Amino acid sequence: MKLEMRDISKSFGPVQVLQHVDFHVDHNEIHALIGENGAGKSTLMKIMTGIYTHDEGDILIDGVVTQIRSIKDSVAKRIAIVNQELNVFGDMSVLENLFIGKEITRGGIVDTVAQKKIADGIFTRLGIHLDYGTKVKELSVGMQQMLEIGKSLVNDAELIIMDEPTSALTDKEIDFLFAVIRRLKQDGKSIVYISHRMKEIFDLCDSITILRDGKLVKRESIKNITFDDVVKNMVGYELGGLFPQRLQIEPGKMLLRVNNLTRHKKFSDISFELHESEIIGFAGLMGSGRTEIMNVLFGVDSYDSGEIYVRGEKVGIHSVVKAKQLGIGYVTENRKEEGLFLDFSINDNVLFNNLKRLSSKFIVNDKKSRSTTTDFTQQVRLKCRDIQQYTSELSGGNQQKVVLSKWLANHPSILILDEPTRGIDVNAKKQIYEMIFELKKAGIGIIVVSSELVELLGITDTIYVMHEGRLMSRLVNHELSDEIVMNYMMGGSRHDDGETAKPIF
Ligand SMILES: Nc1ncnc2c1ncn2[C@@H]1O[C@H](COP(=O)(O)OP(=O)(O)OP(=O)(O)O)[C@@H](O)[C@H]1O
Ligand SMILES: [Mg+2]
Repeated sequence: MKLEMRDISKSFGPVQVLQHVDFHVDHNEIHALIGENGAGKSTLMKIMTGIYTHDEGDILIDGVVTQIRSIKDSVAKRIAIVNQELNVFGDMSVLENLFIGKEITRGGIVDTVAQKKIADGIFTRLGIHLDYGTKVKELSVGMQQMLEIGKSLVNDAELIIMDEPTSALTDKEIDFLFAVIRRLKQDGKSIVYISHRMKEIFDLCDSITILRDGKLVKRESIKNITFDDVVKNMVGYELGGLFPQRLQIEPGKMLLRVNNLTRHKKFSDISFELHESEIIGFAGLMGSGRTEIMNVLFGVDSYDSGEIYVRGEKVGIHSVVKAKQLGIGYVTENRKEEGLFLDFSINDNVLFNNLKRLSSKFIVNDKKSRSTTTDFTQQVRLKCRDIQQYTSELSGGNQQKVVLSKWLANHPSILILDEPTRGIDVNAKKQIYEMIFELKKAGIGIIVVSSELVELLGITDTIYVMHEGRLMSRLVNHELSDEIVMNYMMGGSRHDDGETAKPIF
């Protein structure tokens, strides 16, 4: 299938988010769509799939102008999307999800035998094995995503759009997904691939479209463009180094000490320290127990043994309220479920997290609340219409910035950042790193959990490496030259079995 979008414009209220954009994907092509947070990538793809309707312009399939005004239209035209936020029904089974809206019935009854037969074929093509009766919420994110891809094959899609498919996947799952995408291409499908991870784009894609501020800046074949060109076109200027100059600040007083902390089956014997103006990083594969430790430090989960000291005093952190009282802030890795109230405004989200500070005698001080939100959202350079906008309307990366703002407004002395730049474009990443360094200057102790090794190398003072619930090593991050970091950035940053990570450690 060859799909073209010509002269597409779209506004939400007074804000024009797409301006005369041309876009096309050829038959049998993996095409990258990239741009900063809020550039309009998801919106363009939602127009292509009839989730949003465009104000101006045409969509053409194999040269013929085609009306796509609803999801039903796009399914009929064999276009499918695997959304940034997955769309599965957790309480329903694998089979039910696969055939949702496309149930095969016989005499008014769902014919599961026929469905399973089709599903068998699809799973074989994808190279996965799933029990049809399993509830989808029990599957890993990677498998849920495979199911979404399976769903598009049930619908016989010829064009499959993947909106940031790897942002929540492990390295192994990413390899698997890439193999699946390449196989789909071999089968003659066209793919649109959206990602903020430059390396993936150069590994996987044949061609690229770059959007900036709702406008098309470039369409090029991958072999004719360099990494620097892509970044320059995307940001609009030369970005320079991604990481700020290292600050030579001696860590101050001890803020946090953790002794032999253990939570059965999750992690054991975890000991580390965090000082003022110190940034420590937790490296490790997904499932190595990093997030579980952070959940305990923030009072979300309990622990079985060990001690926690905050500013030298032994404490029990048995609730989130207690953690907040102790000055701990936590930017979770999962903004949709834990980080944000999507049906509330930006201002409300900041307010809810800071009720005490922003109200007196249980009455909210509106003016103070608004000015606080404005201050902190400006600090993270949030792109929004105004602070009353619903967070559900923000682009993925900008939602993450709201989570950051609401915690900054809380003036934490210990800030935990779990995957702080997931889904965030390079420019915003750079801004977030700068912000983290500002916080360091201000004396805050920061814990960063990240799957991106290069990120940890770029910003932390000390890196703790975890493996299967245990701390394997503590590494002082001072002799790491830019060259090494750059080397990792350009390809060595994957650390499947800790293999490539070894030389540094
Ligand atoms: N339903 C909506 N109502 C109002 N504004 C919206 C809506 N959906 C998107 N927008 C706005 O449109 C702009 C483009 O958003 P979009 O989600 O397309 O960005 P994106 O390029 O996918 O960004 P990201 O990389 O962060 O996912 C943003 O400024 C966003 O706030
Ligand atoms: Mg998006």
